[in-house]
Amino acid sequence: MPTVSMKVNGKAVSGEVEGRTLLVEFLRDHLGLTGTHVGCDTSQCGACTVHVNGKAIKSCTTLAAACDGADVTTIEGIAKNGKLHPMQTAFNEEHGLQCGFCTPGMIMSAIDIVNRKGKKLDEDTIRHELEGNICRCTGYHNIV
Ligand code: FES
Ligand code: FES
Repeated sequence: MPTVSMKVNGKAVSGEVEGRTLLVEFLRDHLGLTGTHVGCDTSQCGACTVHVNGKAIKSCTTLAAACDGADVTTIEGIAKNGKLHPMQTAFNEEHGLQCGFCTPGMIMSAIDIVNRKGKKLDEDTIRHELEGNICRCTGYHNIV
């Protein structure tokens, strides 16, 4: 089996994977980073969103082997020095979650949106940009 090496949340990691192993499986099953969720098998829900080389991707449709050498950030890696990331604080303060299943993916996508489009976003833009993330609790209003 091939070995993949990557940086995950600032730490160098490596492991043996099958060619078909998905990035989300590597994160959850090999590294125990279960904050990244799997909500579908059709690349629709966005619960599996992580950042690879600074960009949001769906880790359920990305091969672990394709991320060899990459810099990966998961929901576990965004708080710094015991302080929540501002986007985590925002979700907390605005009650942007109900059951919380979609929340890690929502937060990783939301950070990506701000990184790409800046902080001054109107509601239509946010709703459009979050189309790849589904909240089964329909908590969209507070998330936006
Ligand atoms: Fe990846 Fe649903 S688990 S999009
Ligand atoms: Fe339950 Fe979004 S908070 S799926």
